[in-house]
Amino acid sequence: MMDQYILGIETSCDETAVAIVKNGTELIANVVASQIESHKRFGGVVPEIASRHHVEQVTLVLEEALEQADMNMEEIDAIAVTEGPGLVGALLVGVNAAKALAFAYQKPLVGVQHIAGHIYANRLMKEFQFPLLSLVVSGGHTELILMKEHGSFEVIGETRDDAAGEAYDKVARTLKLPYPGGPHIDRLAHEGEVTIDFPRAWLENDSFDFSFSGLKSSVINTLHNAKQKGIELKQEDIAASFQESVVDVLSTKAYKAAKQYGVKQVIVAGGVAANKGLRARLEEKFGSDQELELLIPPLHLCTDNAAMIAAAGTVAFNQGHRAGWDLNGNPSLSL
Ligand code: KG4
Ligand code: ZN
Repeated sequence: MMDQYILGIETSCDETAVAIVKNGTELIANVVASQIESHKRFGGVVPEIASRHHVEQVTLVLEEALEQADMNMEEIDAIAVTEGPGLVGALLVGVNAAKALAFAYQKPLVGVQHIAGHIYANRLMKEFQFPLLSLVVSGGHTELILMKEHGSFEVIGETRDDAAGEAYDKVARTLKLPYPGGPHIDRLAHEGEVTIDFPRAWLENDSFDFSFSGLKSSVINTLHNAKQKGIELKQEDIAASFQESVVDVLSTKAYKAAKQYGVKQVIVAGGVAANKGLRARLEEKFGSDQELELLIPPLHLCTDNAAMIAAAGTVAFNQGHRAGWDLNGNPSLSL
C-alpha cells in the first residue's frame, strides 16, 4: 500500500500549528508557534490579537513543517483543519489557509473537531483498542468520552460549569500567577502540602459529570477569609490542596467509568493532561489493573498542536469525509 501523508492545520486558540502525519500514526513534522507571550499581560487570550498573530504566522509555520518533513505540497494527500470549537476569528485563519492550499494544489479538504484531535494525539503513540474511554481535560472541556470505533464519540460525562483547565487558570489568577496558570499551580503544588480539605463535587452517585466552580469559589473564599483574619497561607499549600481535589475527582471518575463500560484502553487528552499530579495519580490508579491500558501523550502533544489534527483528519479522510469550499469556522462545534 502507498504511504499516506495528511497535513494538519490548527489555529483554534493561541497556537498556530502545522504538522504532517504519515499513515495516521507516524509524526514526521510538527511545528507550533505559541502566542502565549503576547497574551500574558492581558491575563488571557485576546481574540483579536490571536487572529492577527495567526495571519502573520500560518504561512511561516507551514513552510517550516514542509521543510522538517523534507516534502512539498504535491506529496500531501489531504489537508485537515480544525473547524471548531474555538475562537471564530482564529479558526477562520486556519480554515482559509487550508482552503487556499486545497484549491491551489487540488487536494481534498477535511474538517476536524478540536476535541477529536486531542483524543487522536494518542494514536501517534499506540494503535487504539476499542472500546476505549477518553478523559478530555483542556481549557474549555472536561469530558469522559466512550469510543466503540474510529470516529464515534459518546459523551458519558461532562462538566456542568467550569472546565478543569479553566478552574486552574482562575485559581492561578487569584494567586496572582501568570497566564496560563495551570503549569504554575502544578509546579507550586509539588513544593507544597495538602493542608486544606477543599470540596470535591461527586454529584449524583451514578453521574460521570463534573463540576469545578464550587471548588474554585472555595479556594477564593479561603484566601479572602485568611487575608481578613491576617492569616498567612502558603501559596504552595493552596496549590497542592486545590490540585489534590481536582486530581482526586478526575482520576476516581475516570476509573469508575472505565470499569463500568469495560473498556480496553483509557486515554488522556487536552492541556491538563500535562499535569504532573494528574499523570502520577492516573498511573497509580490504572497501573496495577491488568485489564486496562493507560495512554497519556507526551507533554508537547497534550497542549494544542496540529499533529493531533492530522491524526484525526487521517481517520476522517479514510472514512470518506470531505469538506467543501463552504467550510467555515464553527466556534461551538460539538463532537
Ligand atoms: O488543550 P489546551 O492546550 O487548550 C484548549 O483546547 O483549551 O489546554 C489549555 C489548558 C489551560 O487551561 C492550561 O492552564 C492547562 O491546559 N494546562 C495545565 C497544565 N498545562 C496546561 N493545567 C494543569 N497543569 C498543567 N501542567
Ligand atoms: Zn485544545
